[in-house]
Order: sequence, then C-alpha cells, then structure tokens
Amino acid sequence: MTKRAKITIIGAGNVGATCAHWAAVKELGDIVLVDVVEGLPQGKGLDLFEASPIEGFDCDILGTNGYGETADSDVVIITSGLARKPGMSRDELLTKNVEIVKTVTEQAAKFSPNAVLIVVSNPLDAMVYTAWKASGFPTRRVVGQAGVLDTARFRAFIAMELGCSVEDVSTLLLGGHGDDMVPLPGFTSVGGIPVTHLLSKLDLDRIVERARKGGGEIVGLLKTGSAYYAPAAAAVQMAEAIIKDKRRVLPCAAYCNSEFNIGGYFVGVPCILGRTGVEKIIEVPLNEEEQAAFSVSVAHVKELVGQVEQLMK
Ligand code: 2OP
Repeated sequence: MTKRAKITIIGAGNVGATCAHWAAVKELGDIVLVDVVEGLPQGKGLDLFEASPIEGFDCDILGTNGYGETADSDVVIITSGLARKPGMSRDELLTKNVEIVKTVTEQAAKFSPNAVLIVVSNPLDAMVYTAWKASGFPTRRVVGQAGVLDTARFRAFIAMELGCSVEDVSTLLLGGHGDDMVPLPGFTSVGGIPVTHLLSKLDLDRIVERARKGGGEIVGLLKTGSAYYAPAAAAVQMAEAIIKDKRRVLPCAAYCNSEFNIGGYFVGVPCILGRTGVEKIIEVPLNEEEQAAFSVSVAHVKELVGQVEQLMK
C-alpha cells in the first residue's frame, strides 16, 4: 500500500490556511499546518478537518507550533511573513520577511531534507533566494510561486474581456513578482487562437497593466492585507504537479544561471514541474521589447537579492 503524500504549510494566516483548504479538497495528501501563534494552526486545522465529512475528503490535518510533526514532508509551502497594506510595495516587506523566511526554512529543511520547497512569501523572488540559502537544498528543490498567480490574473482578465472560459486562455509571463513583471501577449492564445487576433494592442496593453498591478488591486480593495484565494490556489497547483509528478509546464520562480543569461538568480520562467522539483527550464526566444522588459524586471530582482545577501551575512 502506498502511503499518502505529506504537505507542510508554514504560516496559518490567510494564504497558508487557504493552501490547506485547496490541498485538502484536492486530497493531495496529509497536511501539517504550522504557525508560531498558539492555537491558530490547531484551530484552523481542526476546523478544516471537521469539514471533511461534509466535503468527503480523506486526509489527516494537523495544526502545530513546532516542526517535529512536519518530518519527512514531500512538499513544504512557505507562506510566513508580513503581507503588504495599501500603499506599500512588496519590497518594503524585505527586511522583516528575510528573518522570518530564514528561520522557518532552517527548521523545515532540518526535518524534511528531501522536500521540495514552494515559497510564497514576499518580495517573492528575494524570499526564494533566502529559502534556498537557508535550506542548503539543491536549486531544483526550491521554487517560488508567482507566475501561476500572475498568469491566472492575466488569463482571468482576458476571459472577462472576451466573455469566454478562463480555461481556454493559455499564457506566459516572465520576470519577478513585482509591478515590472512581464506578461507576454505574444505567447498567449485562446482555444489555440493567438490573442493578438482577438484583441487590439490598446486592449491588450490595458489588460497587461491590470495583470501587473493585480496584487495591488486586491490590497487596495481589502485594505487590511493582500490576496489569498488565488495565491494559495497557485501554490497548491504547483504542489499537485510535484506530488503527482505531473510534469506541468508552469511559470515559476526558478534558479536560472545560463538560462536566459540570468547568472544565478531565481526569476519567473517557464518550468517543467515534477516529482524532483524544477525538472527543466524552457527557454523561449524574446523580441527586443520583451527582452528589454524582462531585463528591467531581472535587474530589480538582483537588486533585492543584493539586500538579502547583506542581511544574511
Ligand atoms: C499578490 O500578488 C500577495 O503578492 C501576492 O497578491
């Protein structure tokens, strides 16, 4: 009999708890929810488990303040850290979140040395780098969730514009998880039809801009925190690709060295995601405009990682 997969989710705030919810409903495996706040992961974990007879999912859900129970997880999703408030950029979270992500990653890595880490904390690309350094894991087993969320927003806005199913919109996005991320209309299709046949450049430019600022749009509406349904759904789609070895082609923050000539940083690129983590990075040819926008975004990530390196010294 094969045993169930084990997923640890660190941080029982909105993103972490919603990750647990999506993972449970999908029956991805047994779930351990960790948080420093006493009672919070236990309460949310028990509440979610009590939903299982109604929804009919079978998995153990354990809330804890420690890491012993996380031992031998297959996937660890790191959501810990502060979220931004209206008017803040993700970058303003860096100093506080480096410390938090470093601490939780060290613990998680010690108890689950063979896990794949999926980082969700912000500023995303810099936090993936932090988790990589803190874990000592090979680069393929450390990956950041951003592109799945950002392309989901881009897909949702295109579907809203065309009045078609979100499922039929397929797209790609490169770069860091900041407002200078690079949605690519040239790599976007709707039921196989290039989106450029269906929408004008003016409309596409407007949608690209909305997708880039999609996180800020939600922060502006919520006023007390940032998005969680879509970020959590995105992290869980990545966890599913890994646990089920689906080899999904998803945009993720992955370690690129020679790839796209990045030179040793985690940035959003198309990856094949499977049981061992990032199994392949798929390089795509970019036109001059796309390359220029990608370079701006990558330069921004490098600057943030420079700050991380100072803080981790
Ligand atoms: C977002 O884009 C929280 O960064 C996340 O909504």
